[in-house]
Amino acid sequence: MTNQHLTSHSVGETFEIAKKIANDLQGGEVIALNGELGSGKTTFVQGLAQSLKVDASYTVTSPTYTLIQSYPCHRFTLHHMDFYRLKSAQDAHTLGLEDYFKPNAICVIEWANLAQSFLPKDHLEIFFEWKSPTERLIFF
Ligand SMILES: Nc1ncnc2c1ncn2[C@@H]1O[C@H](COP(=O)(O)OP(=O)(O)OP(=O)(O)O)[C@@H](O)[C@H]1O
Ligand SMILES: [Mg+2]
Repeated sequence: MTNQHLTSHSVGETFEIAKKIANDLQGGEVIALNGELGSGKTTFVQGLAQSLKVDASYTVTSPTYTLIQSYPCHRFTLHHMDFYRLKSAQDAHTLGLEDYFKPNAICVIEWANLAQSFLPKDHLEIFFEWKSPTERLIFF
């Protein structure tokens, strides 16, 4: 995937960007989401979940306290992690979170930069920047 800088002007546009990425997923991808509080990471995961046909009865929110939430979807299992409360990459290993890196799964990780060395060498990095109440810069 080539480097891109996109401006989203609404939640709907962030969903569209997530959809483009969802359409390219083969299974086994790890996607690191980085950006300040409220920059749109969870909103992006909600868009991914919708595009991957996660059942609408699931509510996708930041799994800040549970660290991980898994959603069955049409082609894969979507694992949504949030490292905001993680102290170190070692903690992620101790918790065995790498067991979720499977060919039939997509792992999407908010605040992945807090445990950068835990990430597999091959992963997609997406950055989110707050520009205005409705605008977010999304680059990868
Ligand atoms: N263009 C946009 N794209 C995404 N979210 C937007 C946009 N415009 C406004 N928003 C709002 O910004 C907020 C983004 O919150 P979100 O929970 O996705 O951020 P987050 O990066 O996951 O934060 P946290 O680090 O606290 O988990 C939502 O309330 C959403 O409605
Ligand atoms: Mg979030």
